[in-house]
Amino acid sequence: MSTARGVPPSLADSLPRDISVAAHAIGPLDELIEDARELGFGLPAGLESAIDKRRREYLAGRISAGNALRHLLGSAGLEGEIAGDDDDVPRWPEGVVGSISHGAGFGFAAVAAADRYRGLGVDVERVVSAQQAGRLGARVLNEREMSLRHGGSGDLTEAEMFTLVFSAKESAYKALFPRYRQVLGFSDVELERREAGDGGARCGALRLRTRVASEGGAVPRLVGWYVLTDGQADEAAGGTSRMWTVVATPS
Ligand SMILES: CC(C)(COP(=O)(O)OP(=O)(O)OC[C@H]1O[C@@H](n2cnc3c(N)ncnc32)[C@H](O)[C@@H]1OP(=O)(O)O)[C@@H](O)C(=O)NCCC(=O)NCCS
Repeated sequence: MSTARGVPPSLADSLPRDISVAAHAIGPLDELIEDARELGFGLPAGLESAIDKRRREYLAGRISAGNALRHLLGSAGLEGEIAGDDDDVPRWPEGVVGSISHGAGFGFAAVAAADRYRGLGVDVERVVSAQQAGRLGARVLNEREMSLRHGGSGDLTEAEMFTLVFSAKESAYKALFPRYRQVLGFSDVELERREAGDGGARCGALRLRTRVASEGGAVPRLVGWYVLTDGQADEAAGGTSRMWTVVATPS
């Protein structure tokens, strides 16, 4: 899966050019510390005694954010640490919106100019088992959303569709929360539409809606993109598939 800035090529290709994304494998701690140092930051004091997993995830997420910012803003993009606020929302440089995720062996981040997007959210998840999707399904998506797994260029399995909707809603939450500061549940965001891309069912565009977050009565428009990568093709995957989602609220 090696590409420019570490993201699956099908994801980089399907996103609008004004969204900059990067991913970084959650490798050994000493290597991550070295990679972070090259970008000009280290572990914040509050994480020095955190468990190894948390420190590695944090660094892989911040390294991804640093690389995405460098691509967006040039080499001066990352000036030290991107701190989190009291709600754990990253504080981006002036004029930038963005989002960080870490999971399924990767840190993942997206950034864009704040005059193009009001918010951005990203998420990466391992595709759940059919049993997990069956057990958790009703808490995360309704029947209409599950029916969107059928598409002209091929169907997603129920487990893939569950993971897609779960991940897209997490991304939507991260795109909305920094601006609206509302806690949303899975039924507060709905997947309205899925359009498979050139690669068939395994990548495409999304449209979502939410009734809850609104600005002067106007409901924010939510658009998204997803890519399902085959774990066996990924070096760090351990033979599992991953769902990558990006959700944006265009200005
Ligand atoms: C915030 C939340 C979405 C994070 O998702 P997650 O799968 O646990 O974790 P991820 O690795 O994908 O993302 C973690 C990163 O999200 C960012 N983040 C945390 N809280 C955030 C928030 N409220 N808004 C935006 N970004 C947030 C941080 O950068 C964090 O990484 P860091 O602590 O290293 O800085 C999740 O923990 C949560 O609170 N969910 C409740 C709301 C929800 O899921 N509703 C259903 C969907 S609408």
